[in-house]
Order: sequence, then C-alpha cells, then structure tokens
Amino acid sequence: MTRFTKVAGLTALLLAGASASSLNAQTAEVLHWWTSGGEQAAIAEIRKGYEARGGEWIDTPIAGGSAARAAAVNRMLGGDPATVFQFAIGEQLRELADQGLLADVENVAAGQGWDDKLPPLIMQAAKHDGKYIAAPINIHGENWMFYNGAALEKAGVSVPKSWPEFIETAQKLQDAGIIPIGLGGQPWQERILFNSVMLGVAGRDFYARAYSTLDEDLLMSDTMLKVFETFAALKPFVDEGSPGRRWNEATAMMIDGRAAFHFMGDWAKGEIIAAGIEPGSSVGCVFAPAEDLAYIMTVDVFAFSNIDTDAARAAQEKMAGVMFDPDVQIAFNQKKGSIPARMDIPNDSFDDCAQYAIKTIQDPNTHLVSTGLFGVPSSVSGAIDDTISNFWNSADMTPEQGRDSFRQAIANAK
Ligand code: BGC
Repeated sequence: MTRFTKVAGLTALLLAGASASSLNAQTAEVLHWWTSGGEQAAIAEIRKGYEARGGEWIDTPIAGGSAARAAAVNRMLGGDPATVFQFAIGEQLRELADQGLLADVENVAAGQGWDDKLPPLIMQAAKHDGKYIAAPINIHGENWMFYNGAALEKAGVSVPKSWPEFIETAQKLQDAGIIPIGLGGQPWQERILFNSVMLGVAGRDFYARAYSTLDEDLLMSDTMLKVFETFAALKPFVDEGSPGRRWNEATAMMIDGRAAFHFMGDWAKGEIIAAGIEPGSSVGCVFAPAEDLAYIMTVDVFAFSNIDTDAARAAQEKMAGVMFDPDVQIAFNQKKGSIPARMDIPNDSFDDCAQYAIKTIQDPNTHLVSTGLFGVPSSVSGAIDDTISNFWNSADMTPEQGRDSFRQAIANAK
C-alpha cells in the first residue's frame, strides 16, 4: 500500500485501499444478546478489534439470552447460520457440539497458546474432542450482592453477613421506605438469587455435590428445606413491579437508590460503569452472604457455526484471534464487569470488585458452576429455573412443596 501511494498518489491509495479491503475483508455476522448499555459498550471493544484487523462485522443483537440462543440454534438447523454466536462454556455448548453444529478454531488456539493461558476448567470446557469449539472471553460471577451505600446509610444499616442478618436489615430498609431488593422478574434472575441463598445456607460443598450429582436424597434433605425457607422469607422484600422486569432495570433501581440491594452476575457492573460510577465506591460489591468463599461462575464465549466455506472459516479464525487478544480482553472486560478468561493478563487496571474476584478464584475450591448454561444439561437447567420461578411467584406454596417440586422436576429432566 505504501508503495502505491508513492507511485500514484492519493487516488491510487484510495482505490488500493478500497479494493484491498473488499478482497481481504472477512465478513462475520455476530449474533449476541448484549443489548444493555454496559454490554453494548463492552462488545464494541471486540468489534473495534475485529475491524482494526480488516474484518467486517455484521451485528445481530437479540434481546434476552434464551431468545438469542434459540435464534442461533434455529438458524443453524435451518441452514442459515450466523458466522459467530454468543454462548457460554459448559454442558449446553457440548450439546451443540455433539449435534455437529459447531466448527473448531483449533489452529488459532494452538497458534496463540490458549492451553497455557486459560484456567484448566475453562480450557477443558471450551474443547470438544480435543479441539477448541469456542473462544472464551471472560469469567463472570453470579453470587454478587451489589448495594447502594447511601440507601443503607439512610436506613442506618450496614452490609449483612448472613441470611438471617440480611432479613433483619431488609426489614429496616423497608421501614425506611426503601425497596430492600431490586429484583428482575424472569426465571433466570430468580434462580440467581436462589442459588446465592443455596450457597449461603447449604455451603459450597453441598452446592457442588447437589448440582453435580443431582442426587435425590440431597435435593430432599433438611438442608434443602432450609434453603427454600430462607428463599421464601425474602419474598416480602421485593416490590410489586418485579415480575417481568429486565435485569438492567433492576440494576438501575439499585444504582439510583430506589432499591438497596441487587443480586446479580457482575455484568451488573457494566451498567454501574456505564453510569459513570466506580464499582466499590458509592455502589458496593460483596459476595452474597455465605460463610464459604465461592464463585458461581459462568464464562462467556463466542462459538462458531459449522459453515463450510473458506470465507466463513477465515472470518471465524480472525474473530477467535481477536477475542483472545490480550488488549481486547482487557478493554472488553473493563467495560463488561467480568474478569479476563486469560490468566496471564495484568490485573492492575481492573476495579476493586474484579480484583477480589481474581484473588478468589486463585483457589480452585472456590469454583462453582452456574446452573444456567455451565453446570447442568439444558433440560435440567430449564427445570431448575421453572420450579424456582413457580415457587417464588406462588402465594401459597410451602417451602416443603417448593423443595418437592424442585426434586421432582430435576428427577424428570435428568
Ligand atoms: C451472560 C452475560 C450477560 C447476561 C445478561 C449472561 O448469560 O453471561 O454476559 O451480560 O447474561 O445479558
């Protein structure tokens, strides 16, 4: 290109530029559910990286994770796949690979040394038959409890350390006219709250055993009854507007102080950052009350539809390389609220909450899987979300009935 400029001047440069880009551009349609303010700011960093390397990005945002995942799968089955689509590592990604729907990006992964840079759990879950079928971009934690410092101050309460303490605190907040919990009302959001209660009440070993074995005795245990009792005790502390509310609306309620607490994955931090607030300052972050230190993880990836054309393969490989690029992972994760999937990236530019997450997961005993996309098959994941949501939204189910329907639905689904 430089030679052209010298020889034939500006017109030739522009022409050369245009033809070079149309010859080399790898066009990728990217299907994802990152439609909130923080999410859009974060994905823009990947897009920037892709375009800077000559790629062309066609954006297909679809609001809501389950709608977006259904669209990605339906389009693959219908013969009109997106080049690249957002997903998460774990059981459900494996199900897609088992059906032969995914392409691998092993060449890129080998070239960039992904094996040495990813935590072993993520490395294994991102592979199928020994080859990478997805590009891991981050680690999110789902057992965070965000809070509005001014709201707590107004009610004269501090951050509770146990669930009984939480319930006392919530009562005081309510008496002071503040909504104690800003909760979005969709089954997956109610499940995030439930799983945090389960971790706090039953402990991390119980959580790990219950969801890895789906053992009926564990699911019917007294411990599980206590989990349902505690979960039920939180119902009065959510406002009437909760059903159907989207997660980022619930995050906004906590940011502006209408609600004091918000239980959500740390993508909520993306909204906090987009609102110009430094996480860990006026909006605080701690883990949901629990004695055991643990991180309920979900790992965002982009997966690659099985498309057998050179152009699509080139676009997919370019995209995988961009997503694993250290600078892209830093810029993306700073806006997303998550921490990089790569372990070799310096931490110093991340906020206090992210630093705490990074420190926590150094101990592999803290690693727990989300039941959303990571830890259980899709049928079980759906059964978990549905029964928890039914219980949460039913005025007259007892905790015993909640526990029983939970066990039953999981037994039928597994
Ligand atoms: C994803 C996050 C995303 C959140 C809300 C989760 O499933 O892991 O990246 O921000 O959904 O859209």
